[in-house]
Amino acid sequence: MIKNTIFIYALLIVQFGVSQNNPLIIPPTIETTNINLNLQNSTHQFLPGQITATMGANGSILGPTLIVNQGDNLDINVTNNLGQTTTIHWHGMHVSAANDGGPHTTIAPGATWNPQFTVLDKAATYWYHPHLHEFTDEHVSKGIAGLIIVKDTEEAALNLPRTYGVDDIPLVVQTKDFDANNQIVNHSNADDVLLVNATINPETDVPAQVVRFRLLNGSSQRVFNFGFSGNKTFYQIATDGGLKSAPAALTRLQLAPGERSEILVDLQGMQGQTLQLMSYASEFGNGIYGATAPGMNGGMPLDNYNPNPMNGADFNVLQLNIVAQTSTPVTTIPSALVTVTPYLEANADQTRNLQFNPVAGGFNQLNGDFIINGVSMDMNTINITIPLNNTEIWSIQNGSAISHPLHIHDIQYYILDINGNPPPPAAQGWKDTYLVPAGQGTMRVITKFTDFADDTVPYMYHCHMLTHEDGGMMGQFVVTDLLGVDDNELINTANGFTLYPNPSQGTYITAALNDKTDKIRGYAIINTLGQIVNYHKIHENEWSNMYSFPVFEYSTGTYFVRIFTAKTIYKKKFNIN
Ligand code: C2O
Ligand code: CU
Repeated sequence: MIKNTIFIYALLIVQFGVSQNNPLIIPPTIETTNINLNLQNSTHQFLPGQITATMGANGSILGPTLIVNQGDNLDINVTNNLGQTTTIHWHGMHVSAANDGGPHTTIAPGATWNPQFTVLDKAATYWYHPHLHEFTDEHVSKGIAGLIIVKDTEEAALNLPRTYGVDDIPLVVQTKDFDANNQIVNHSNADDVLLVNATINPETDVPAQVVRFRLLNGSSQRVFNFGFSGNKTFYQIATDGGLKSAPAALTRLQLAPGERSEILVDLQGMQGQTLQLMSYASEFGNGIYGATAPGMNGGMPLDNYNPNPMNGADFNVLQLNIVAQTSTPVTTIPSALVTVTPYLEANADQTRNLQFNPVAGGFNQLNGDFIINGVSMDMNTINITIPLNNTEIWSIQNGSAISHPLHIHDIQYYILDINGNPPPPAAQGWKDTYLVPAGQGTMRVITKFTDFADDTVPYMYHCHMLTHEDGGMMGQFVVTDLLGVDDNELINTANGFTLYPNPSQGTYITAALNDKTDKIRGYAIINTLGQIVNYHKIHENEWSNMYSFPVFEYSTGTYFVRIFTAKTIYKKKFNIN
């Protein structure tokens, strides 16, 4: 009954803009480097009638916004009073695997986890959320999520709005499904209630000047197509992991689950007016969660896709009531921001291919399970081993009927192309999450794995639709330090060693260093696709200026060997006949 009421209510909002508004909750902040997060079970009155059971950090729902500076040494205590195991992941931040809070770094009920790390990230908006394998959606849907605002000197030098909650407004946008008893349902496709900072039908006052919004799509599955009523132009200044080189003038901004953007909107001269932040989901094409019927098979709907009133509709997200200017308003949109230096494709050490697919049988599946390169997440399998400081292109192909947001831990990536075309302006810049188009769509990204090597604790890469992630659409990678030679720029293509016999008949190949004082500590065999087919550390008591490695397990063809020595990395081509 109540649920039907919500449906009709949402329809009313969609069709007539009628709503009874609630003041937007602004999450409290923590601005010290000693951060205490207390994860707790609680309740929250979202809807008329029965109260809703929730989870929150330091409160009944969501968590405080952490405001930190690049270079800060953080000392964080996360205490788990949920009565069940969880983890906390710092989404988008460049931290060691042990501090990353992925599914291996569990916090037992009653325990406190104490990560300590230096903030290395650029100024941008990041977030934290639980990441327990198979339970991420439950813990996030029930309410645990918070923003992290990183500041740095480059950002501070710009004339940007930065008064939190006044002209710099955090917006955690989520949809949830409430059952007939007002309880949150996870792994649901009936997410028909929209919340901004846990506020239903929110409105907020904003001054008639340049205002900054920090948008996070914290939904489990839904993609938003943000824009303002009247198609008012706004300016994207930051992507997931940093400021852009210059503001991008936009009227629409698509954000999939996990993505963030910072935007500026100029409200000068509008005092007394209202403006709606909307999602224009009617404009979504096939393959996007939030479209009318996102199936790719001639518009055939995906299995289990719920025809709730948000799908394919244009709906209000937040009402802005424009009030008087503050005493020190920002009144201009900057013409330039920071220098963004993407990694160059020519400098990539290798390319990896990831293939997204539904498990056998169901091209039209919405809920999966989905697999990556034929396998489902296995906590005991390292899917990818990455040499420290490798610059890599990841080429992802999506063989399913729904677009999946690819998130990679540890790094920020730069999108090279999507279906062969340059990324749209809003996706140019540092990204850690972006949609790979449905129906055999492809995306290529480039990144570099610097700083943190750990052979035992893996980082994750996964689809950020939490239902898919929990269903196994995730893999694990370790970054390994290649025997202490930690800089690929040392790669030495000079003739520093001989390799014989070359071509090999498929038994052993011997590498012998010209420099008799140097020692071979390990090697990697790389195929012509740039994939590491073997990577071997040599035990210390076998280090020598000569080493014979077996090649009989490889098929015939061309390969490259990298020889890691005490002094450098050598590289050479060889053939197996
Ligand atoms: Cu926001 Cu692996 O997650
Ligand atoms: Cu997915």
